[in-house]
Amino acid sequence: MTCVAHRYIAPSVLSADFGRLAEDVQAAAAAGADWLHLDVMDGHFVPNLTMGPDIVAAIRRATSIPLDVHMMVTDPGRYTAHFIDAGADWVSVHYEACTEPQAVIEDIRTRGAHPSLGINPGTPVSAAEATAPALDMLLVMSVHPGFGGQRFIPEALAKLTEARALRERLGARFLIEVDGGITTENAGQAAAAGADVIVAGTAIFRAPDYAAAITAIRRNLTTA
Ligand code: DX5
Ligand code: ZN
Repeated sequence: MTCVAHRYIAPSVLSADFGRLAEDVQAAAAAGADWLHLDVMDGHFVPNLTMGPDIVAAIRRATSIPLDVHMMVTDPGRYTAHFIDAGADWVSVHYEACTEPQAVIEDIRTRGAHPSLGINPGTPVSAAEATAPALDMLLVMSVHPGFGGQRFIPEALAKLTEARALRERLGARFLIEVDGGITTENAGQAAAAGADVIVAGTAIFRAPDYAAAITAIRRNLTTA
């Protein structure tokens, strides 16, 4: 059985205060965030626009914790190098957005970042099978990508368990990340189902006390 020792909490900066971004990400890091999750949206793959490499670079200057860049972008291979140069440690590209995911994944690793593949709620886990040996992470979306603050899609729990089974069957090593609609209440279920990395935007950045929010989520992960 593949043993993943740690679970990571990655606050999604999408729900932070963009007017005081540096202070806000520093506050999240000080509150116990393991990584920061940065949602890049192009207005094409998803119906929303967010940040480009300059914002990622500004966040990189503000904190030293790992930056997990989630590219919700059509043809992401055109932009991955820019985000890695800006300081991304982890780069997720979507299966649905790539014509050749394997080539994009290999390129991310060659450039020194951890490659990850994202799958939308409508995409089966089996879509990741071909690239699984080359992945450092598989991102299972638990909302339709595009916006923070949506409700968790419960069918994602079975997909997390399937992802874990796929990892075991292939002897692969990728982490499993869950993203979308995570709350203090359902984080434990997601972890028990298979998630190693828990993304939470609203549940952390819209909470009055980031440290209390992260501690509450972490407590539920360890009892999962
Ligand atoms: C959705 C993004 C998520 C989002 C999570 O497209 O990929 O990372 O910011 O936000 P919450 O936790 O509010 O669902
Ligand atoms: Zn995301």
